[in-house]
Amino acid sequence: MNKALWLLTASLLLAEPLAAQQGPSEKSPETSSPIQAGKDYHSFANPDEIRVTHLDLDLTADFDARQLKGSVTLSVKREDKDATALVLDTRALDILNVSAEGQPVDYTLGKTDAELGTPLKISLPAGADTVSIQYETSPKASGVQWLSPVQTAGKKHPFLFTQAQATHARSFIPLQDSPKVRVTYEANIQTPESLLAVMSAANTPNTPRDGDYSFSMPQPIPSYLIALAIGDLKFKAMGERTGVYAEPSMLDAAASEFEDTEDMLEATEEKYGPYSWDRYDLLILPPSFPFGGMENPRLSFITPTVIAGDKSLVSLIAHELAHSWSGNTVTNATWRDLWLNEGFTTYLTYRIMEMIYGHDRYKKEAVLGYQDLMADIDALPAKDQILAIDLRGRNADDVFSNIPYEKGALFLREIEQKIGRDNFDAFLTQYFEDFAFQSITTDTFIDYLDKTLLADYPEKLSEARIRTWIFEPGIPKGAPKPESDAFVNIDKTRSAWLDGEISAADIMTGDWTVHEWLYFLNNMPDTLSDTQLKALDDAFALTSTQNNEIAHSWLMIAVKNTYKAAYPRLHNYLVNIGRNKLVKPLYRELAKTKDGKAFAKKAFEQAKPGYHPLTIKANEGFVND
Ligand code: BES
Ligand code: ZN
Repeated sequence: MNKALWLLTASLLLAEPLAAQQGPSEKSPETSSPIQAGKDYHSFANPDEIRVTHLDLDLTADFDARQLKGSVTLSVKREDKDATALVLDTRALDILNVSAEGQPVDYTLGKTDAELGTPLKISLPAGADTVSIQYETSPKASGVQWLSPVQTAGKKHPFLFTQAQATHARSFIPLQDSPKVRVTYEANIQTPESLLAVMSAANTPNTPRDGDYSFSMPQPIPSYLIALAIGDLKFKAMGERTGVYAEPSMLDAAASEFEDTEDMLEATEEKYGPYSWDRYDLLILPPSFPFGGMENPRLSFITPTVIAGDKSLVSLIAHELAHSWSGNTVTNATWRDLWLNEGFTTYLTYRIMEMIYGHDRYKKEAVLGYQDLMADIDALPAKDQILAIDLRGRNADDVFSNIPYEKGALFLREIEQKIGRDNFDAFLTQYFEDFAFQSITTDTFIDYLDKTLLADYPEKLSEARIRTWIFEPGIPKGAPKPESDAFVNIDKTRSAWLDGEISAADIMTGDWTVHEWLYFLNNMPDTLSDTQLKALDDAFALTSTQNNEIAHSWLMIAVKNTYKAAYPRLHNYLVNIGRNKLVKPLYRELAKTKDGKAFAKKAFEQAKPGYHPLTIKANEGFVND
């Protein structure tokens, strides 16, 4: 993952930390008692008393009203036989009716917390093991984006997609919205006849388009992995178990960009054990999708901004695929434990990329990731540099920095180096098997290490060192430091150019991949002259690069140095891309000067109708006075 800056203000997606608001949830970390491992501080639900195990969804997508309307029937299991109330999470849902076994039952909506939403408390009659709720979503649901036709590639049909991680499933389904609660689900989705619905479930690629679609997810998954998209979608197979859904005009480009997906799937299975989810398909979303990718099981949701034409950004696919093992099969129990999910996945991503594209690319991607990590270590307060982060009283999305991703991966790389790759791979395979379809805490992982690697390699690993990695800020002394020979030359070239020894035209970029470009640009000094920028731009047409990552790095430099020649592209970039990682650092940088802020405000106002609610929330603070 690069562009550390997207994560620097820790309140990544939502504006204000919970602690600053009124709410029933938690006291601030400073004043509260020791953290309770396994307690989900971001859900009102009571799975320890009554646990939801299965959902039956029956929803109609009303594109005119921008609402999902219908019902969910929840199957429950009583964990405490005396419990009489089922508590669910909701956010901005209109609850119309609640019944159990066909009879209306009492329910109350509790006090609304600005971040957590509203608890829904349902009286469960003795013996009842299902509850049905009729409800409608808000047109502004935080986890749903309704796109008008002009916001799609084809411009003719509307589009809808959901994004549930971290705590947004509750904005489109009343449920126990905690990663420690796993459910199976079935769904019936009604859409306009010309559109196709897809879900994070078993999809039927060539199902007739009739506006009536059924899905089944037979493996238990956490709520943040429930996902739905509806649009003018077509399917193209890439391999036996892999394929891509996209709007028709994007389909071929996507299928060829991601044609190595089947190989990635096979290589990962060979290394880390069987793929548990049957098919692995990709869904290409419109550019307003707020993330790079989302690992919705069986169907990863992917930003179109990585279709670069040369497979240079496909580590994103390796990443979302890797989540099928680390994350979807073995899940973090609470958001504090997210590093078990993203750290393991980042480690696996590097390994998959190496298996498919070789050692040189592996080394380069590892260096870029390491640089992102170091930027966060410099910028984040110590408490946010801890893998097992204390999120009490904070928004769950605060955990999303390079720390869980790259620090988590570096920790695993250290273990790998100490005990040897084959041994570590064998450990990971066993770990994925032992915890398959479970949601685990950091403490469970440490207990497991105690019984496995720490027992097997006492002379190579120590629990103290492992605890330092997990519970202390920063990077422990002696940690691995990824290196790449290819980048040594880039450093030399950059210095020679900066020192005036060579001109831009003399820089031999013929065999540079996106990685060389990113390394070259990301390590420029903060200040460059207009002449220098113009020379680079003249030589390499950076302002018009079609690679969105290179464009991002270049535009960051342009903003830092007010290089006006790039501003029309910058405006376009901000208006047409809603991927937060790419736009947020630009807004933040622009907001540092008065003129920059005025420019940002203009772009933001134009872009806003097309941005996802999360992208709006993450960036409006930069443009508003
Ligand atoms: N699960 C995350 C996406 C996510 C992050 C959703 C934060 C909600 C909140 C996904 O697997 C991810 O990590 N995506 C990255 C890509 C990656 C290559 C690091 C992204 O979207 O940039
Ligand atoms: Zn991820």
